Amino acid sequence: MHTPIQLFDPTSSTYTYLIWDESTREAIIIDPVEEQLQRDLVVIQEHGLKLQYIVETHAHADHITSAAQLIEHTGAQAATPAGCGIKPSAIQLVDGQILKFGGESLKALHTPGHTAGSMSFTWQSQVFTGDTLLINGCGRTDFQSGSAMELYRSLTQVLFALPDHTTVWPCHDYNGQTHSSIDYERSSNTRLNTDGRPRSEAAFIALMDGLNLPRPRRIDEALPANFSLGVRHDANKQHAALQTPCAPKQAGYTGDISPQLAYQWWHSNEATLLDIRTNAERAWVGFIPGGVGIEFQIWPGMAINPAFDAQLLEAMQGKRKKVMLLCRSGIRSIPAAQRAQALGFEAYNILEGFEGDPDANAHRNKRGGWRAKGLTWKQN
Ligand SMILES: [Fe+2]
Repeated sequence: MHTPIQLFDPTSSTYTYLIWDESTREAIIIDPVEEQLQRDLVVIQEHGLKLQYIVETHAHADHITSAAQLIEHTGAQAATPAGCGIKPSAIQLVDGQILKFGGESLKALHTPGHTAGSMSFTWQSQVFTGDTLLINGCGRTDFQSGSAMELYRSLTQVLFALPDHTTVWPCHDYNGQTHSSIDYERSSNTRLNTDGRPRSEAAFIALMDGLNLPRPRRIDEALPANFSLGVRHDANKQHAALQTPCAPKQAGYTGDISPQLAYQWWHSNEATLLDIRTNAERAWVGFIPGGVGIEFQIWPGMAINPAFDAQLLEAMQGKRKKVMLLCRSGIRSIPAAQRAQALGFEAYNILEGFEGDPDANAHRNKRGGWRAKGLTWKQN
């Protein structure tokens, strides 16, 4: 049996999975975690995988997904459960839908309960159960559209209807266990069995309703970001956080700023604006006069520009150490900001980028961003 690569995020105890077709190398990643982006990109590259889809089992409350960043780096498409309300996803999955990757297929099963939209995914004789079924456990049902009754039905009627030997790959484990089987969980999972007998639906609901679990630590940050595939577009809130003395630092750079604040800093010469889009994007889409253009990734293939560090250091000679990084949608600029910070600059990421996010109903079909906010720009 071809098994997935199972990757672990120790902070949130989240498992991320990579599966692929052996001959075409076309691949799917399931539930990737923001903090592990670089690791995941290395694994994808080392195995020669061509990422096709980024799949989420649900909108997570305990960690932020790297889906949007993976789209930017790999060109893959996000595929998320239709019932989860993750609007920017290219594919809104419905029950029974199949994602093809090479000669392989991943099938979506609607398994509500942990959240109303939650899905599990079968592949060969294996199932990725998200937070619906954990090893000797199950996801909580006390927030985020959860329902113990729905979960009981998803577990007993959908997942436990799979063949006995089906391998279970959960989204989390807090005890170092890696996988299980449908047979074992059906007969031994203590949430669903008691005294050697299956627990009734009423007893399961009573058990789940009485758990009194603490609120997830990151829920207020994680949920809004995960509804946008991990992009934080709450620029004003982030800006307010930057003003407080104990503002949490972003991973590897100084902070996120709104296009409006970036405009102020640019206008008052307080910081240098680094436009890290490709030369073609600046030439065709538009540019900001006085911005310094240095490509972070280059076509074709969007490989990292090997001369980025040298070009940045040269362009910044004699200038202030404060830099603001701008890309198309505020995602590619995150690794660029981390790179600039590592080179000794005080680096800020400009949220929403030049063009913002796709939105079919908006002007130019984009929402947010430097251009839509009416800030100065030019076109050749
Ligand atoms: Fe969850």
